[in-house]
Amino acid sequence: MSSPTTRLLTAQPQEISTAADLLKEGQLVAFPTETVYGLGADARQTNAVEALYAAKGRPSFNPLIAHVHSVETAQRHVIWSDIADTLAEAFWPGPLTLVLPLREDHGISPLVTAGLNTLGIRIPAHPAARALLSVLDGPVAAPSANPSGRISPTTAAHVIAGLGGRIAAIVDDGPCGVGVESTIIGLATGTPLLLRPGGLATEEIEAVLGHTLHLRDASDPLTAPGQLLSHYAPRASVRLNVTTPQDGELYLGFGAMECDLNLSASGDLREAAAQLFGHLHRLDARAQPIAVAAIPETGLGVAINDRLRRAAAPR
Ligand code: TXA
Ligand code: MG
Repeated sequence: MSSPTTRLLTAQPQEISTAADLLKEGQLVAFPTETVYGLGADARQTNAVEALYAAKGRPSFNPLIAHVHSVETAQRHVIWSDIADTLAEAFWPGPLTLVLPLREDHGISPLVTAGLNTLGIRIPAHPAARALLSVLDGPVAAPSANPSGRISPTTAAHVIAGLGGRIAAIVDDGPCGVGVESTIIGLATGTPLLLRPGGLATEEIEAVLGHTLHLRDASDPLTAPGQLLSHYAPRASVRLNVTTPQDGELYLGFGAMECDLNLSASGDLREAAAQLFGHLHRLDARAQPIAVAAIPETGLGVAINDRLRRAAAPR
């Protein structure tokens, strides 16, 4: 479904209802969440979801996250559990995705789950996203609103640069506060699994569960569909854990240091997460190799390092 012009909408109620109407018609609408901008399609409409994969150039074996506005809506689609309840109570709305078994009468297009019998689902915290989802009153499949494999968008300008002209509309409500995608927890097997580190620190989840989280088995296609190694990739090469950048490299710093751009001069990992993709977009525009300072592997640093390793991975 090509859209020669992409409409820019605000988060005013009238325009949110326009965005909901477009989704109902099977069109693609990008919208802000607290993590990154998502590219939305009505998760019940196979044609819309097909157009979404096409607009992003996303391989169709990589399943999508369904976004809903309430736990009751989530329960229409997935088999709920006590652990789901505990985590939803503690962290929804927020940057947490739960992977749960699909109900028999789930109503979700099989393209959303890439044929799996589980669904990734979350309630985002961003007010514009919540307004849109509650007007629509249905599940919205939304990957990050970037061409597949490239840097995720944290502003509407990033979305326009990557997908402008290929989607019906963008709801612009400023930059995203968290800045990295949601943490994904698998609850489809007996034990909760960390499928992707993200905007909710693992330590916070472990504190609520009362035990440490097991990691996904990277060789198991059911726990790790579409976790592609090369991702978030700027056009130029990326080198990690650099203390001394080479001539011609742009230096992305962390903490008090001399550099071209700093993720957080005060060494604050939340600030660094919020700045990460914006800084990568800025450095990418200069088309020079990028060197990145070391980031601590704790709290949101785990998600930041995960995204940086994928940005630096061989293509
Ligand atoms: O914060 C976020 O999660 C953002 C915003 C827009 O909500 N969305 C996002 O979507 O990051 P995306 O498509 O870029 O990443 C979704 C990830 C993929 O790595 C996919 O493999 C995984 O979720 N995923 C989706 N459904 C799954 C399932 N049933 N089982 C395991 N992994 C799943
Ligand atoms: Mg993505």
